[in-house]
Amino acid sequence: MKSEPTFAEPVSAAVKRFAEAFDQRFSKFLEAVKDAPESLVEAMRYSALAPGKRLRPYLVTECCRLVGGEAEAALPVAAAIECVHAFSLIHDDLPAMDDADLRRGRPTNHVKFGEAMAVLAGDALLAVAFELLTTRVEDSGRAVALVHELSQATGWQGIIGGQVADVEGEGQPVEKPRVDYIHRYKTARLLQAACRMGGISGGAGAQQMECLGRYGLHLGLAFQIADDLLDVTASARQTGKNVGKDAGAGKQTYPACVGIEESRRTARRHADEASTALKDFGGDARALRELATYVVERGC
Ligand code: IPE
Ligand code: IPE
Ligand code: MG
Ligand code: MG
Ligand code: MG
Repeated sequence: MKSEPTFAEPVSAAVKRFAEAFDQRFSKFLEAVKDAPESLVEAMRYSALAPGKRLRPYLVTECCRLVGGEAEAALPVAAAIECVHAFSLIHDDLPAMDDADLRRGRPTNHVKFGEAMAVLAGDALLAVAFELLTTRVEDSGRAVALVHELSQATGWQGIIGGQVADVEGEGQPVEKPRVDYIHRYKTARLLQAACRMGGISGGAGAQQMECLGRYGLHLGLAFQIADDLLDVTASARQTGKNVGKDAGAGKQTYPACVGIEESRRTARRHADEASTALKDFGGDARALRELATYVVERGC
């Protein structure tokens, strides 16, 4: 895949360029979804291919490269993790969850296709993720390690566990341990998995895996604090999703817990920790280190 880094290119531009190249290949992977009801294929493609930042695929690819692997080897892995992310967004927006009608600047999946189809399209994308890992990764040992990593970041030890705490925390007194738990599981675990899965794809050693994991976790924690902040400070035009919803729903968020300024400081602290985790990689990790600052300062 063409996404060779240009010297000193700002990471925001690198991610954007990556996303364009990735989307073409991602769309091809999804073309394998056929001989299924047309309505299902349409609903799956609608959300998966909607314009997102493709941050998780970027992390997979860059972490793979960082440990000496080929970006091409990371491609099905990057596609798999984006399928899980798309599944999580479709379900997160459902009336029974966050009840959102705008995502990536478009009507949400259930608004467009109905609730039953949104549930099913999300389920199907989750299954495609594991199908990709088990059919498109040549080395079977690596495939098993990748499935292990992704299943843990997705299920009860990951997104689903975090989402349950998020939903059950609505309207409850906002408590920092609870917010930290929610952030770690609903969001940070998947970003951490993206980094570790990039490492696995590139043949990383144990110590490299530990550094990538630490980077991904702190990046993910910074990322979700920034997401909570955007819900308070940004517009729907900027984010492409409904804003001001968290306070309305009585969500456990960082701004609700410690205020805007302390949220910003904590996000920056996590970004610094993420950067520090990559110090042994030296200049090769410049873009990933810069990404840690970018996720905190981003406007969407
Ligand atoms: C949104 O993730 C959901 C969260 C975990 C906060 P992103 O902000 O990465 O969404 P897209 O993929 O760019 O739309
Ligand atoms: C992200 O949390 C949770 C997911 C796992 C999708 P949010 O509910 O805050 O995400 P947005 O703000 O709707 O994207
Ligand atoms: Mg939510
Ligand atoms: Mg939401
Ligand atoms: Mg949010």
